[in-house]
Amino acid sequence: MSYRMCMLLLVVLITCNFNEKVLALCADSDTLSLDFTNKGISDVGGALFAGCNPVASAIDLSWNTITALEFNAFAIYDFNNQKYVPFSQNLRSLNLSNNRISNISDKALTFSRNLLLLDLTNNSLTELKSGIFDSLPRLERLILSKNRISIIENGTFTSNLRNLKMIDLQHNQLTSMEMWPYTIKPSSMLFIFDVRHNMINQFTNNLNYTYDLEPPYKTMTYLDFNKFTVWNDTWFTQYHPHNRKRFYLSDLSNYILVMSVNPWVCDYHMCQLVSSYQSFILGDVLSRLIVCENPQELRQRPLTSLSTQVLHCNTSVPIIR
Ligand SMILES: *[C@@H]1O[C@H](CO)[C@@H](O)[C@H](O)[C@H]1NC(C)=O
Ligand SMILES: *[C@@H]1O[C@H](CO)[C@@H](O)[C@H](O)[C@H]1NC(C)=O
Ligand SMILES: *[C@@H]1O[C@H](CO)[C@@H](O)[C@H](O)[C@H]1NC(C)=O
Ligand SMILES: *[C@@H]1O[C@H](CO)[C@@H](O)[C@H](O)[C@H]1NC(C)=O
Ligand SMILES: *[C@@H]1O[C@H](CO)[C@@H](O)[C@H](O)[C@H]1NC(C)=O
Ligand SMILES: *[C@@H]1O[C@H](CO)[C@@H](O)[C@H](O)[C@H]1NC(C)=O
Ligand SMILES: *[C@@H]1O[C@H](CO)[C@@H](O)[C@H](O)[C@H]1NC(C)=O
Repeated sequence: MSYRMCMLLLVVLITCNFNEKVLALCADSDTLSLDFTNKGISDVGGALFAGCNPVASAIDLSWNTITALEFNAFAIYDFNNQKYVPFSQNLRSLNLSNNRISNISDKALTFSRNLLLLDLTNNSLTELKSGIFDSLPRLERLILSKNRISIIENGTFTSNLRNLKMIDLQHNQLTSMEMWPYTIKPSSMLFIFDVRHNMINQFTNNLNYTYDLEPPYKTMTYLDFNKFTVWNDTWFTQYHPHNRKRFYLSDLSNYILVMSVNPWVCDYHMCQLVSSYQSFILGDVLSRLIVCENPQELRQRPLTSLSTQVLHCNTSVPIIR
């Protein structure tokens, strides 16, 4: 075979292969659930969805090599009206897990307004930009675990996300958390905020997940496997939007913080907390919250099992009422 013929054949082969691949992605235009896992896809955009069902409800793009979502990732160009339109108006589920996404254009999700589920597990996100999820009023589950997120801008979780039931931020690099995080109003639904396995050691209000906060709080915040060492009594009340005295006692019957497996140091810093628990019926809440890690002799003891003597408290520590 001559060199020229060989090259020609090669070109034909490559072209065929390429066409086949693109066509194969949506060989059947009836399929509602598009399985694009592990196809070596690095760019998401209109061309990828050629021949696909225009009312597809799910796209699984996990295990590809996507690094960014451009504004038109889930749009196709409508030549008649000369503008981008959603690839599918019916998209409910988008799985982008196990890619290398570090950058999401603030417009990228505006073409998928009906999403209920967004999975971005195991990508390379370092921050969440204000407004990024604002176009997703129906979103119920947002999964962002296994990224490197250390910054969440204060406009990230807003009241536009009125159907959100769960935010999964496990295995990221957060260092602080809201005392009173995002909750839905009105709602009887339990809201789950999962920030296990981060580096959180304090509550701040920098993020401002909180809005329209009214009891009863039906929120569960998982803070296990973080870096809390010292409890600060001001956390209960300091950032509370209503800032009512002792409000937190009844709040905590619905608002559940889980803070086990943190390197708690049970020493005199805990005195005020223990005193207030002795005055009120906070026992259950505290034992759930704080199990000592240090000093060694108190390891694994729930804070509530300790007397103020053991903690070397100054007996004249004022009791909060
Ligand atoms: C997304 O895809 C990954 C990998 O294929 C899978 O393990 C995960 O369960 C999917 N996410 C959801 C929410 O179904
Ligand atoms: C995360 O995704 C990368 C590919 O981008 C893969 O090599 C790695 O095994 C995944 N990690 C986990 C914990 O699934
Ligand atoms: C993210 O994408 C935007 C727009 O495409 C670009 O301006 C910005 O520089 C990118 N940021 C990073 C960190 O790559
Ligand atoms: C978000 O933070 C910026 C700067 O820290 C501040 O100016 C802005 O008012 C905050 N927005 C909200 C809604 O809290
Ligand atoms: C948080 O947001 C609320 C409602 O938008 C606003 O009133 C409040 O000032 C914000 N707090 C901070 C600390 O930015
Ligand atoms: C508790 O928080 C308040 C307000 O941020 C701060 O002034 C105080 O120093 C903190 N106390 C401890 C023991 O860290
Ligand atoms: C105990 O607390 C009181 C009042 O705060 C203070 O005057 C006193 O010095 C403290 N004693 C010790 C041993 O810390």
